[in-house]
Amino acid sequence: MKLTLKIWRQKNARAKGNFETYIMDNVSPEMAFLEMLDALNKKLVEEDKDPVAFDHDCREGICGSCGMYINGHPHGPVPSITTCHLSMRYFKDGETVWVEPWRARPFPVIKDLIVDRTAFDRIQVAGGFISINSGAAPDANSVLIPKRDSDKAFDAAICIGCGACVAACKNASAMLFVSAKISQFALLPQGRIEAKERVRAMIDAMDAAGFGNCSNTGACEAECPKDIKLENIARLNREFYKAF
Ligand code: SF4
Ligand code: FES
Repeated sequence: MKLTLKIWRQKNARAKGNFETYIMDNVSPEMAFLEMLDALNKKLVEEDKDPVAFDHDCREGICGSCGMYINGHPHGPVPSITTCHLSMRYFKDGETVWVEPWRARPFPVIKDLIVDRTAFDRIQVAGGFISINSGAAPDANSVLIPKRDSDKAFDAAICIGCGACVAACKNASAMLFVSAKISQFALLPQGRIEAKERVRAMIDAMDAAGFGNCSNTGACEAECPKDIKLENIARLNREFYKAF
């Protein structure tokens, strides 16, 4: 395939960015999207040009670092997958592909497609953990938990902290992310002990980072690569009301 890439280039947080155009020949439908960017960068390096900076680590859909907007969607146009799982077979020969970083004030651009997501780390540090001794595996097995609750806790725990929910939201709200981190503990007895302190601290950290409020649009759920559900936001609100 021959593709025209329009990629956001920005030297640093203070510089003004712009879209640059790159023509990519011989793109195989078998390639992953990030492999196509690797091929572009190899070409740029051979031409003594600055390669496109983009974030990635596991390339297995579990670390959450590969976030970028592709053709107007966080993680690209295919639902429920991360950018690193996006295959080039979803694109057509001759297509123009627009690639941009997350755009949200709490996620400033570091360079090109890489944004600073330490705001999420600060929220996690504020309360996304348990500090009680929950024992070893046999102890965990002796605490009976309804299957429905453990399933919901697990579904929330698969949030990879990618930030697509924030990028998709017109308010740059982090409520889906925070609600997933709250829910994974709120539904389990080990998480109930510090539940009140946790939700207050994580909401405070979320507000301090400058994320917007949730207005129930649902763009976050629609674009989340891990299908985190809006019902977690309802649980977050209930937990917050109960914390005072
Ligand atoms: S809720 Fe979904 S979109 Fe938001 S950080 Fe977690 S995995 Fe990413
Ligand atoms: S590189 Fe880890 S989720 Fe994509």
